[in-house]
Amino acid sequence: MALRNIRTEEDPVLKKVSRKVEVFDSRLHTLLDDMKDTLIKADGVGLAAVQIGILKRVVLIDVGDEHGFIEAINGEIIDRKGEQREIEGCLSLPEKSGITSRPMYVKFKAQDRNGNWFEAEGEGLFARCVCHEFDHLDGHVFTERLAPGERIRISRD
Ligand code: NI
Repeated sequence: MALRNIRTEEDPVLKKVSRKVEVFDSRLHTLLDDMKDTLIKADGVGLAAVQIGILKRVVLIDVGDEHGFIEAINGEIIDRKGEQREIEGCLSLPEKSGITSRPMYVKFKAQDRNGNWFEAEGEGLFARCVCHEFDHLDGHVFTERLAPGERIRISRD
């Protein structure tokens, strides 16, 4: 088990575009395992590799619903429907939250840790989390997706 440092807002890496994963080897598996440890320790619902400074298109999602724990590599949204406006936050922006506009439903395709393609779909928090994590792969954070008229809320522990 290995914890990695979660990069925060001031780190320019968060604005970079992650690269496609081409090799599904033990190095990738170590990255995935470390990301899982890091996500659990941080008590989050999703984590993208860029958040620990690795520019690879790798995300983890676990919103505590029937989807369970998902490793999604080279993921791409292939369908979206509706809209939801709910409060959102990010492990990399620990003091910020805001109401975003996201699709109510998404379907995506991605590869698992062995390179096999799969599809998954869901609504609500799951859809929100998929959009949020996939955004990280292109250098975007949720504060760029605020619903009309909404602003960033700042809170301190
Ligand atoms: Ni995030």
